[in-house]
Amino acid sequence: MSMLEVEAINSFYGDSHVLFDISLEVAEHEVVALLGRNGAGKTTTLKTIAGVLSPRSGSIRLAGTPIHGLTSHLIARRGLQLVPEERRIFITLTVEENLRLAALNAAKPRPIEEIFDIFPRLRERRRATGGTLSGGEQQMLAIARALIRSPQLMLLDEPFEGLAPVIVEELVALCGRLAEAGSTIVIVEQDVRAALMLARRVYVLNNGHVAFEGTRDELLADPEITSRYLGIGLETEEP
Ligand SMILES: Nc1ncnc2c1ncn2[C@@H]1O[C@H](COP(=O)(O)OP(=O)(O)O)[C@@H](O)[C@H]1O
Ligand SMILES: [Mg+2]
Repeated sequence: MSMLEVEAINSFYGDSHVLFDISLEVAEHEVVALLGRNGAGKTTTLKTIAGVLSPRSGSIRLAGTPIHGLTSHLIARRGLQLVPEERRIFITLTVEENLRLAALNAAKPRPIEEIFDIFPRLRERRRATGGTLSGGEQQMLAIARALIRSPQLMLLDEPFEGLAPVIVEELVALCGRLAEAGSTIVIVEQDVRAALMLARRVYVLNNGHVAFEGTRDELLADPEITSRYLGIGLETEEP
């Protein structure tokens, strides 16, 4: 089943046309990466899917149901969770309070202990305030806040940005376990190597257009695309 079907969306900031006929599809239980240079339109694509920004044309379906034109709030209630780049956790609230707040108006909240089983580090830090967490812990909390709402689809915008390589490895492993457990995820990342450890299928954006669509192996076999749009050479390790 298709969890997400995006068809020819066009998005604008005021008069500025940023997304041009973007189409993409994500199957249930699939992890898809959205890659591309800075300013390519990745965040705008996620924002449009999540209803933060309304597309001027095109259609978006979540599990078969049209969601374009709905408010971000209603889209979230239908089970789509955007974890934005800024993380947006509450720094004066504890880890546990952040999670309980996220669960509050969810249609099917998961028990908090289940979330702590996935993130043992957050269980240890449950009484710590958000502001005292490390960058990696804050990112875990941001993902945990989405997960506690039992999302059908999660959109992660640069979840590994600004984190030390050893923390990135830990988060990649964690996201890998979420994927194995059946989560459906769209991941935007500058860290191509990390993204390709998780995603088997990839879209590359350039100037608001889809420049490439294919499997991870097809991408890695296409030096033209990887060098031109991702700025990586042939020496990139195979994940
Ligand atoms: N709030 C905004 N207002 C106007 N233009 C924006 C805004 N946010 C992003 N843009 C522009 O839209 C384009 C795509 O940006 P974005 O989606 O953030 O790219 P990416 O996430 O791939 O780096 C860029 O040219 C950027 O300058
Ligand atoms: Mg971005």
